[in-house]
Amino acid sequence: MRTHLCGEVTEQFAEQAVQLCGWVDRRRDLGGLIFIGLRDHSGVVQVVVEPDSPAFADAEALRNEFCVRISGQVRMRPESQWNEAMATGRIEVVADEVELLNASAPMPLLMTDEDGEEVRLKYRYLDLRRPRMQDNMRTRARMYRAIRNSLDGKGFTEFETPILTKATPEGARDYLVPSRVHAGQYFALPQSPQLFKQLLMMSGMDRYYQIARCFRDEDLRADRQPEFTQLDIEMAFVEEPDVQALAETMIREVFRDTLGAELPDPFPRLGWREAMDRYGSDKPDLRIPMELVSVDEHVAHIEFRVFSGPAADPGSRVAALRVPGGAELSRKQIDEYTEYAGRYGARGLAWIKVNDAAAGLDGLQSPIAKFLDDRAWQGIAAASAAESGDILLFGAGDWLTVSTFMGAVLVKLGHDRSLVQEGWQPLWVNEFPMFEWDEDSGRHMAMHHPFTAPANDSPEALLANPGEALSKGYDMVLNGSEIGGGSIRIHKPEMQEAVFRLLGIGEEESQLKFGFLLDALKYGCPPHGGIAFGLDRIAALMSGEESIRDVIAFPKTTTAQCLLTAAPSPVPEDQVAELHIRNISKSS
Ligand code: AMO
Ligand code: AMP
Repeated sequence: MRTHLCGEVTEQFAEQAVQLCGWVDRRRDLGGLIFIGLRDHSGVVQVVVEPDSPAFADAEALRNEFCVRISGQVRMRPESQWNEAMATGRIEVVADEVELLNASAPMPLLMTDEDGEEVRLKYRYLDLRRPRMQDNMRTRARMYRAIRNSLDGKGFTEFETPILTKATPEGARDYLVPSRVHAGQYFALPQSPQLFKQLLMMSGMDRYYQIARCFRDEDLRADRQPEFTQLDIEMAFVEEPDVQALAETMIREVFRDTLGAELPDPFPRLGWREAMDRYGSDKPDLRIPMELVSVDEHVAHIEFRVFSGPAADPGSRVAALRVPGGAELSRKQIDEYTEYAGRYGARGLAWIKVNDAAAGLDGLQSPIAKFLDDRAWQGIAAASAAESGDILLFGAGDWLTVSTFMGAVLVKLGHDRSLVQEGWQPLWVNEFPMFEWDEDSGRHMAMHHPFTAPANDSPEALLANPGEALSKGYDMVLNGSEIGGGSIRIHKPEMQEAVFRLLGIGEEESQLKFGFLLDALKYGCPPHGGIAFGLDRIAALMSGEESIRDVIAFPKTTTAQCLLTAAPSPVPEDQVAELHIRNISKSS
């Protein structure tokens, strides 16, 4: 139907006849001349229909998004009309035939960034016509190709694992599929292929990868979807540095091949505790040049209980954040940051404006100035490197709570004050605790997942002091986004049983849920480990998108619905009955 793509008609085709297909991006009537921006996936080209052209009447009837085929002649534009912003900006196509392939009803959206999320998702097939979305989808596809090239060249074998399967705990609720054949029984959709990839290592497959769809029924945000895609990797006979080296090399190759971007080599590493201490986050954004500093030793003696209490308590901290130039913040703005910190558990956000750093205590403006003495201020000033014109913000209280809310404030200020630097800042976060204590259920939860090996190989040591145990887990972080996570796995049944016990999974339950894994561990399971990358998040970073919805062709809303197909939706009673289930009304 066509001889060229719209975006490739450049001056090298001047004077040639071309046939193009696409959509009317824009149609303008200019004093008898009709200009059509003709768009396909490759770009836009300007088509001109002159008044005496046999195509003129057909062109007059065109509207936006009509699908057309155009025959014409490429002509150089006068130099004064060159549009260097477009690849095709030096030419135009003089049409002699305009064939309407299909008309379009009036568009339900503007096809610009102004369109709201709801209309964009409902008419996703139209939204995807936009160049921005076309680029995002193609960048993602290039990334997939680069991943396969990289791993295929490193001795990996690509696998598929079941979608109808048994629950794998990754910390979210399962999506369940009722069985028609087995009344009262359910498949779970995989939260990840974790157990299958471990089994493949036990099968001697050595190096596994899969671009795997994962399903998690959890609270959704801009960077979380109920179904999302992982690049899942597993390797036999490895320790942490082996997996990290492989993962780093692959990610560097993928960024180079997809974007032509160079990532640092090697990636920096940060222990979880240090990451929380310095950045208040387990996924620090190293593009933001600010850090938290602990000032406990400088405020332990002052009269202000809010500070001196936590300063003396080993499980607490007093953390300061220096915001360069922040003395200009208004009371209202400080109140807003205080309110923001409150969402992360802060009971307050003390502050000191450093109006004149040379004037000591006299140069400060602060609601807590009256509590400070020279010793306290000199210590704080030195630790924070505060200068005139800065503001210092303080959090005091429980170590994890303070670190978390101060980290959230750090990131917000970094963005609000345009301090985020250009470029790619990856890092590894490791030395995670094995467990976190869950107040609600009063028990340990796995920080990564229950198959992650502890740093100390002895089950007795783990059982003796689970709260202090670190794991062989690691996360890869890029520009403040957790793009991957993995670990060395438990490969001995005794250790796996010990971890299940600590997680409150009794013998009966562990047999019921993971009997097959415990069995498999008995037959010469090799040491193994791996990692999984969130490909939606990486694609979003590559495309400069805030939300992973913009790099997924058909995503779900934050309330886990597909607006395009209107799913989930009711099904006829008999179809439900066949599955041995009955709908009960919401209220009962
Ligand atoms: P984890 O749960 O850390 O590890 O997931 C790996 C990566 O997947 C991405 N991710 C998500 N992306 C979009 N929407 C979601 N709801 C979502 N949840 C997770 C993140 C995350 O870093 N089985 C382990 C991996 C392993 O141990 O090898 C696992 O699934 O980028
Ligand atoms: P108050 O004594 O409650 O008036 O608090 C004095 C200052 O300390 C105010 O700026 C509060 O925002 C701040 N503040 C109170 N609690 C905390 C806390 N836990 N961490 C940091 N600052 C706090």
